[in-house]
Amino acid sequence: MSQEPSIARHVPVLAAEVLAGLEPLPGCLVLDMTLGGGGHAGMMAARVGPDGWVIGLDCDSEQLERARARLDGLPVELVHARFDQAAEVLRDRGLQADRVLADLGFCSEQLDDPGRGLAFRHEGLADMRLDRTRGEPAHRLLDRLDERELARILWEYGEEKQSRRIARKIVEARHERLPWTTTRLAGIVRSCLPPRGVAGRIDPATRTFQALRIAVNDELGVLESMLRQLPGMVRPGGIAAVISFHSLEDRMVKKGFGDQMIWERITRKPIEAGEAECGENPRARSARLRLARRLP
Ligand SMILES: C[S@@+](CC[C@H](N)C(=O)[O-])C[C@H]1O[C@@H](n2cnc3c(N)ncnc32)[C@H](O)[C@@H]1O
Repeated sequence: MSQEPSIARHVPVLAAEVLAGLEPLPGCLVLDMTLGGGGHAGMMAARVGPDGWVIGLDCDSEQLERARARLDGLPVELVHARFDQAAEVLRDRGLQADRVLADLGFCSEQLDDPGRGLAFRHEGLADMRLDRTRGEPAHRLLDRLDERELARILWEYGEEKQSRRIARKIVEARHERLPWTTTRLAGIVRSCLPPRGVAGRIDPATRTFQALRIAVNDELGVLESMLRQLPGMVRPGGIAAVISFHSLEDRMVKKGFGDQMIWERITRKPIEAGEAECGENPRARSARLRLARRLP
């Protein structure tokens, strides 16, 4: 039975593969750096408890509250922090983790919340911050950045071929003095691109929304910082797993696990979801799981 009838509950991706790869054993300390709906954390807590525990981080305090209700009774400690602060969280407790997971990006609940402005299918002000206590929302960037900088963001983070055209239209649209809602932004982007045409192809606004979300949350900067600190978080012999959702992230994770003095790669190629999972959970289609063991 769903606790939130209007919002789809997040379904953890590659759940069986994460459990098989991370092998959380009884007594293990697991660090879940992206607690989200608590799906992966709940499964791991059931495996490690009662002598082990899970430290679950999320930068979104609303997600932590949702997860708190769902993880009631399980050995999970919740911490409001970004994952580039995870090393500090462990250091403060004098700990290294046996298993670490990062499942990047956002949850279904966040996507479906119109107040977040993350999805063009839900009308709302384009905020896009995952942590609403800090940072500059997308609508401010859309008002403030010059055309060149907007085009750079769309090109670098969205690999959007029409980045300059879209940036010009956005800057031109400022004179209308209308709020930057998700639907307005999507309409402007679509007016610059050929229509979707073939059924099933992604909406033309997808790349622009991805690019702005990455910029607003400094997703690549935070990921790079976390990957740099990751070796210090995992005890020698421990295992780290990262699930990414686009090629920019996956490239960084591959590189991060590529240092053979520190990591033994468990996956040469990323693990992807099978047809059945992709059929049930469209989000799984772009998921890539990489695992590595920390060398002694
Ligand atoms: C894909 S969801 C995780 C889902 C979770 N594994 C589950 O099974 O329910 C990603 C979560 O990570 C959080 N997040 C994204 N970037 C973060 C960051 N830099 N630091 C901490 N949490 C982050 C988001 O707020 C979101 O709740």
